[in-house]
Amino acid sequence: MRGKAYISYARGDAERQARPAKAAAVPPPATQPEPPKPVFSHIGKATPRVDGREIVTGRAKFTHDIKLQGMLIGKILRSPHAAAEVVAIDLAPALAVPGVRAALKLAEGKVRYAGQQVAAVAAVDERTAEKALGLVKVQYRTLPFVVDWERARDAAAPQVRDGRPNLDKLNDYNRGDVEKGFAEAEVVFEGTYRTAFEVHHPAETHGSIAAWEGDHLVVYDSTQAVHGVRDGLARALKVPAANVTVIKNYMGGGFGSKLSVGDYTVVAANLARETGRPVKVLLSRRDNAVCVGYRPSSNQTYRIGAKKDGTLTALRMTNIACGGIAAGDDCSEPVVDVYKCPHCKVDEQTVYTNVGAQRARRAPGHTPGAFALEGAMDELAAALDMDPLELRRKNYSTRNQGDTGLPYSSKGLDKCYDLGAKAIGWERRNRRPGEGKAEGPVRRGLGMATSIWSGAGVPGTLADIVLYPDMSVEVICGTQDIGCGTRTHMAVVAAETLGLEPKEITVKLGNSDYPWAPISGGSLTAPSVAPAVRDAALKAVERLKAVAAARLKVDPADVVMAERKFASKSDPGKAVAFAEVYRDLRRETPFHGERGGMPGDQYAFNTFGAHFAEVEVDTETGRVRVLKYVAAQDSGRIVSKLTAESQVVGGVTQGLSNGLFEERVMDDATGTVVNPNLRDYKIATSLDIPEITVLFADVDDPRINNLGVKGLGEPAHVPSSGAIANAVYNAIGVHVREIPMTPKRVLEALKRKEAGS
Ligand code: MOS
Repeated sequence: MRGKAYISYARGDAERQARPAKAAAVPPPATQPEPPKPVFSHIGKATPRVDGREIVTGRAKFTHDIKLQGMLIGKILRSPHAAAEVVAIDLAPALAVPGVRAALKLAEGKVRYAGQQVAAVAAVDERTAEKALGLVKVQYRTLPFVVDWERARDAAAPQVRDGRPNLDKLNDYNRGDVEKGFAEAEVVFEGTYRTAFEVHHPAETHGSIAAWEGDHLVVYDSTQAVHGVRDGLARALKVPAANVTVIKNYMGGGFGSKLSVGDYTVVAANLARETGRPVKVLLSRRDNAVCVGYRPSSNQTYRIGAKKDGTLTALRMTNIACGGIAAGDDCSEPVVDVYKCPHCKVDEQTVYTNVGAQRARRAPGHTPGAFALEGAMDELAAALDMDPLELRRKNYSTRNQGDTGLPYSSKGLDKCYDLGAKAIGWERRNRRPGEGKAEGPVRRGLGMATSIWSGAGVPGTLADIVLYPDMSVEVICGTQDIGCGTRTHMAVVAAETLGLEPKEITVKLGNSDYPWAPISGGSLTAPSVAPAVRDAALKAVERLKAVAAARLKVDPADVVMAERKFASKSDPGKAVAFAEVYRDLRRETPFHGERGGMPGDQYAFNTFGAHFAEVEVDTETGRVRVLKYVAAQDSGRIVSKLTAESQVVGGVTQGLSNGLFEERVMDDATGTVVNPNLRDYKIATSLDIPEITVLFADVDDPRINNLGVKGLGEPAHVPSSGAIANAVYNAIGVHVREIPMTPKRVLEALKRKEAGS
C-alpha cells in the first residue's frame, strides 16, 4: 500500500481533507487545442507584497505578539526520561506559589520520550510559572529505552511499543518484474544513501493563546491549518466545532510542523477553562528541537539496472526510516514516479525509538528520496560514461506510474532541463566526476537533480468577494498565510478579475469562521485558494455587469469591462464608471457578495523541477561551498512573481542547509537531544547562500484549473540537497552518500576513494 506524500502525512481531519478527490478527476483529452494565452495586468507580475510594510515595520501581529486582558502564562513540565512509569505527580507545592492560578497533570502511566508532557501550570507571569513548574513533584520509575535507530533494530533492544517489535513494515510497491529487469540490464549500480533527522526550526516557535467567552473558545495559534486546529480542538475538548474559533494572522514559518493541533494548544485551552482567564503557552527553541517533530531519518539502498545506452531496465529500492514513536516517511515516490522504467520494486521499513514523533517536513519522503535516487542516477551515469542530464532526459516520465489514481501530468520538466542547463552553463561541468582542473586543494563541480511533486488543489475550497457601495472590496478565505505571501496572491487574483489594483483589495484570512480552505501544506494553498478567489471574482463581475446593464439599458451579455468602466460592446458610447455601478449595488437587495469555490472537477498535479548547483570543495578541509545555483520549476501559471521567487529561494536555502549542515543528534546513553539549540544545530546563514537564479517554465495549461496554478513551496525544496551532493560528486569524484555533507563526511569519502584507487 502506498500513497502520495500528502496522504502519508495525513494525521488529522484537515490533512485528510487535503487529499484530492481521486475518482472525481476525469482526465481531459490530451489533444485539446491550446486556447490563446490570456493577457494579464497583475497575474504573473512582480506585485510587491500587500502586507510587506506591515511585516517589515513590525506592526504585523504574530501569535507571539498577542496579549489579551488578564492573560496568564502557561508552562509545561516535560519528562527528562526517554521511558518511565509516572508513579505520582504532586501539584500542591506549585499551587501554593502566590500568583499560580491552576495546575494540571498531563501524564498517566508511561512516558515514551524525553520531552513528553507531564504537568502544566498557569500563573500571572512567566517567572512565577517557571518557579511553580520547578516545584511540581514527579515520581518516575525509569525504564529501559533506545533512541539510536540502528540499535533499536536489535531483537534485544527495549521495545518502544509494548509487545510489538521496533522494526515494522512501512511501505511496498511493485510494478513489472524487477528480477527480469536486472537480467536485461547491461550495467547495474548499487549504493546506500543516508539522510539525517532534520528539525523544522521555524523562526516563530509553536504557541497558542486560548480564551473562553462563555462556552465559545477563541484560540490564537501559530498554525498551518486554522480549520484543522478547530476540528482537532473540538475533538480533544469534547465541545462542538461550531463553538471554536481559531485565528492566525501572521506566522513565522511551519514547514509541516504546524499542520495539526498541538498538545500544548489543548493544554492552553484546558488551563484557560480552569482559570476563566486567557492563557498563553509558547514553546521554547529547546521544545522545538525535542517535542514538535523533525524529518525522519532514512537509510535508502538503490539498485538500478540499465542498458548501455542509458535506458533503465530495473529500479529496486529498500529503506529503513525512523520517526521516533511514529512511523518514518515513505521515500519511494521519486523512484516510483520520476523515471519510466517497466520494472520497479520498493520495500520500506520503519524502526521505532524512544524519541518524540516526527512531523511532516517540507515535501515528506520526497526530499530524502530525491537526494538518494538522484545520487544513484549520477553514479549510474558515471558507470555508463554518460552525461547525467542526458541519462535523465532519456528516462524521465511525465505521468504518475504509481497507483495514486492521478491521471494527468503536464510536461514542463523538459523546459526546466533546458532552462536550468543553459543558465548554469552545464557544458562547464567535469566530463567525468573528479576530473576537474585542480587549483591547489580546491575542486569545482556541477551537479543537478530532478523533482516531481503533486501540486494539487483541494476541491471544496471556498472564498468570498464582498463589494461595498464605496468601492471597497474584500476577499475572504479561511486559508492562512504561513509566510509565503498568500495575501498577495489573493489580492492579485481578485484585482485582476475585477479590473482593480491589488492595493485596492482588502484580504481577510487566517480565521476558522471564514469560508473553508485546506491546510497550508502539501503545496496546495495557491492551487486551492487562487481558483476559488478567481471563481468568486468572476461571479462578482457578472453581478456588476448585470447592474451596469440595467443602468445602461442594454443586455448584460453586451457589457464589457475595461479601464474601470462597464461599457456596451455594441454601442461603445454607452459606458458607466465602476464607482457608479458599485453604488448601484445598494439597490440589489440583499447583496452580500459572491462566494466562489474550487470546483470538484478541477485539479492540478505534478509540478516538476530541475535544479543545478556549482560547488567548490576543499579537499584538505572537507569544506563545501555552493557558488552558484539555478532552480527551474514548472508550477504552472505563476500568480505572483516576487512571492513565487521567494518561495524558491527559501526552498533552495533550506535544501542547502539540509545538504551541508542540519542534523539532530540523539544521545543513546541519556535518551536526549544533544543539540537542542541553534548554536549546536547548524542552519545555513546568509554567508552560506550563493547567487540563486529562479526560472519558471512558462507552462500555461488551462486544463489544470481556472488559472492553471500548481503548487510551489515543496517542489522548490525537493531536489536541492541532491543537486548539491551531485555537484560535490562531480568535483571530487566520490559521492558523499550521507547528508549533511559535513567536512568529516567529505574527508571520509575522499579517503574511501584513495583506498579504492
Ligand atoms: Mo508541509 S510538510 O506540506 O507543511
